[in-house]
Amino acid sequence: MSNPASTIIHVRNLRKVYKTGKVSVEALRGVNLDVPKGEFLSIVGPSGSGKSTLFHIVGGLTPPTAGEVIVGGMDVGKVSDAKRTELRRTQVSFVFQKFNLLPNLSARDNIRTALFIAGRPMNHFEDELRNVLELLGIGDRLDHRPSEMSGGEQQRVAIARALATGPSILLADEPTGNLDSANSLAVLNLLRDLNERLGQTILMITHNTEAAAFGHRTVHMRDGQIVEAPDPS
Ligand SMILES: Nc1ncnc2c1ncn2[C@@H]1O[C@H](COP(=O)(O)OP(=O)(O)OP(=O)(O)O)[C@@H](O)[C@H]1O
Ligand SMILES: [Mg+2]
Repeated sequence: MSNPASTIIHVRNLRKVYKTGKVSVEALRGVNLDVPKGEFLSIVGPSGSGKSTLFHIVGGLTPPTAGEVIVGGMDVGKVSDAKRTELRRTQVSFVFQKFNLLPNLSARDNIRTALFIAGRPMNHFEDELRNVLELLGIGDRLDHRPSEMSGGEQQRVAIARALATGPSILLADEPTGNLDSANSLAVLNLLRDLNERLGQTILMITHNTEAAAFGHRTVHMRDGQIVEAPDPS
């Protein structure tokens, strides 16, 4: 997996400064990271160390201040806002701690929304998602609304929605942060299955070292830098 040709995320000397009025916050201070395609990478670190900021840049939500960030062949620091939006729509998907499902829509329609936003035909729903829905084990919950599901089920729907557009990369920011231990375990096993069976590249932020152990390797962030990172296996 260390063959550079298979590197899907390449980050060099990445800096991010947030400016709010006269106040500047240096959220990332020279981050270097390479992620091989098909890796399940865990990221841990204290609150404020820059984990979510790194995700927002890799996912095209916000531009870097300096440095090189290449995601699926796109240099996200150099391209237009429109191209970054394209990256978000086609290559990268997010899963959050709060599941962020639309409360008035069924699970099926929540998932379809992602297809709609990405401009995909709705009638491809079952085809595109068959493998994913099978792995997710929520086939009998598709007509339920979020309020009728457990937290673990809601997170699995959120993961199905994230995967509906066939992203190259799944960015999961504390996906088990709102779940009890049984539901956390179900979601972590699911992420591992998606990685092993479908080859999905996954980056997961977590505060929990047991959760981090589900990934192939764990990188540690502190004060806007990666302070510990084993080589990819
Ligand atoms: N949009 C923003 N505007 C200004 N400052 C921000 C913004 N987003 C994050 N920050 C600051 O950047 C630093 C890094 O924040 P970030 O959210 O990346 O940390 P984190 O490691 O994800 O923390 P947590 O574990 O609490 O989620 C913090 O000091 C934070 O206050
Ligand atoms: Mg965060």
